[in-house]
Parts: sequence; C-alpha cells; structure tokens
Amino acid sequence: MANSSNNDKMSQQGPAFDSNCMTLTRFVLQEQRKFKHATGDLSQLLNCIQTSIKAIASAVRKAGIAKLHGIAGDVNVQGEEQKKLDVLSNELFINMLKASYTTCLMVSEENENFIEVETEKQGKYIVTFDPLDGSSNIDCLVSIGSIFAIFRKQSKGAPTIADALQPGNKIVAAGYALYGSATAIVLSLGNGVNCFTYDPSIGEFILTEANMRVPEQGKIYSINEGYSSTWEQGVRDYVEAKKDPTKGTPYGARYVGSMVADVHRTIKYGGIFLYPATKSSPNGKLRLLYECNPMAYLITQAGGLASNGKINILDVVPTKIHERQPVFLGSKKDVEEVLSYLNK
Ligand code: AHG
Ligand code: MN
Ligand code: MN
Repeated sequence: MANSSNNDKMSQQGPAFDSNCMTLTRFVLQEQRKFKHATGDLSQLLNCIQTSIKAIASAVRKAGIAKLHGIAGDVNVQGEEQKKLDVLSNELFINMLKASYTTCLMVSEENENFIEVETEKQGKYIVTFDPLDGSSNIDCLVSIGSIFAIFRKQSKGAPTIADALQPGNKIVAAGYALYGSATAIVLSLGNGVNCFTYDPSIGEFILTEANMRVPEQGKIYSINEGYSSTWEQGVRDYVEAKKDPTKGTPYGARYVGSMVADVHRTIKYGGIFLYPATKSSPNGKLRLLYECNPMAYLITQAGGLASNGKINILDVVPTKIHERQPVFLGSKKDVEEVLSYLNK
C-alpha cells in the first residue's frame, strides 16, 4: 500500500527536484566571490552572454516556428524578411554585450572591423566571439555552436585595436555553447573547465560536469581528410600512421565540421582535432581570436594541449583581428605525437 501511494506521489510530482542546484549564474557568482577585488562586472558580462546563448538556442531549436520559417523562403508568414541565424546570433551577442556596461571593444567573426561600444556604456573587458560556428551545418540540423573569449583592457584611454590583439595567454575567461542533442555551455574562468546543460523546464544552465579533463590519450582523429593531398608531409604521415594497423590499433575517424562539436567530443572522449594549412588556406582556416584561442584555453585548462604546429596556440601574438592559424589540439599524448611528425 505504502509503495503504491509513493508511486502515486512520484507520478504526480515527477522525479525528485533539486531545490539547491548549481546554476551557471550561481556558479559564476560563487567563483567571483573568491576574488577580493571583484566588482561583479565579469559576472554581469557572463550573464549577458548567457542571455544571448539562450536566445540563439531557442532560434536554433526553431521555437516560434511560424516566425522563423515561411514557405516563401526568406520571408516569414507575417511577410517579414527573415534574418539568417548567424546574423541574428551576431546581433544578440553585440546588443547584449553593449547593454552589459562591462565591455569596451568586441571582435566578431561577422564584422570586418572591431566594434567599439558607446563611451557611456564602456567597461573594462574586450570580448571576441564567433556567434554561430558551423554555419554550413545549420540547414541539415547538425550540431552548431557559439565561441567566446574575454580579455581585460590593457591600455589607458579609448580602446584601440591593440587591445584586441592580445595573445591567448591573457584570456580571463572563455567558453562555448553547443547546440547539440542538448544545449550546453562549457566555461573556464581560469580554474578548470565546467559543463552546464540547459534545463528548459526552468530556463537555466545546470552544472552537469565539474572539472572536465581531456583523457591523456584518445582513439579518435578528427580532420577534413578531403584536403589530404594539400597537407604538409608531416600531417599526411601522421594521419596515415593513425590508420595503419602495423603501428598500433587504428584510430576512429570523426569529423562533424562544426569546431564546437568536434572540440566538445575531443574534451569528452579524447583524441585529436586538426585543421592544418591546406593549399587554399595556407594558414589553416580557423581564426585565432575567436576560434583557436578560446578552444586552446579550454583544452589547456582541461589538461590537454593546443599547438599551431610550432608553438602553443596561446603564445601566438595576433597581428590582425581575423588572423588564421593552423591548429592541432586535444589529448596531450596525441598532440605531442603529431608534433613529432611535424618536426621530423
Ligand atoms: P564558421 O561556421 O564559424 O565559419 O566556422 C566553420 C569552421 C569550423 O566550425 C569547422 O571546424 C570548420 O569550419 C570546417 O571547415 P571545413 O569545411 O573546411 O572542414
Ligand atoms: Mn566558426
Ligand atoms: Mn561563425
């Protein structure tokens, strides 16, 4: 009898509810309290990024489908012209960051020039971001993401381009949002990496994985192998070796084509993600400020390694805001192995 009444209670109330769960907002506040001189600006900034991500996630999930889709292609049922998801994501990041009163300068993949915030709204942070990563995967519903890095302004006076050209080793915080089979934010404030998964029932990101660690070695290589004829010899030899059963158990190949998804899998399962120089992209394709650097920071914070083939990605001093770099990142042993092939 007692059991059946318990079951009745369960079915009425659902499974046990965590009334003390660690939300992303709570986590950030708690971390900031550890710094005596923290003003709360970084928490405010991250809150605004969180709002952009919630709105992007909602658009990615096609919530309000009538507003997002019209049978007439780019025009919705109200006859309004539709914004492409990458344009919408970019506007969300820019508007929310401006409204945070914490940021003075932004660099977005979608804007040719850096964006200076109106003087009266300026704060001490610089934010670089890729508002929608993996855009070629949007239309086929494959995972996509957003990537960001936060720096402190180093100079006095009005912000200049030099403030945006800081190496990754000056990052204050970085993260990405993955719009996958669930939506998650992976964040580091310089003290390890934590994963927060979106719970739509309360509209909050909840800590689901604390202190993520990249396995020391993996079993997966991730690269667009279609370009193999234009890779440098070292990359070719390394990838051949990963498939050669006489050189150990062959690795599995996985390549989503959305950096966020490929990096998230690499953090979770280990292995290596590579985007080397190719004939059409002699410096690789991925951008240093808002793709390579935030990902290198997270991978490093999780115990992995990230290199451009010569030096640590985080030590590369940028010379232009949209600069590209070759990238080799993931499990420490796997990255060390590819470097040994590149430096042969
Ligand atoms: P974006 O959609 O922001 O332009 O970035 C796409 C990037 C990255 O997400 C992915 O790793 C890479 O492009 C894939 O490039 P290829 O199609 O050349 O493999
Ligand atoms: Mn991208
Ligand atoms: Mn993009």
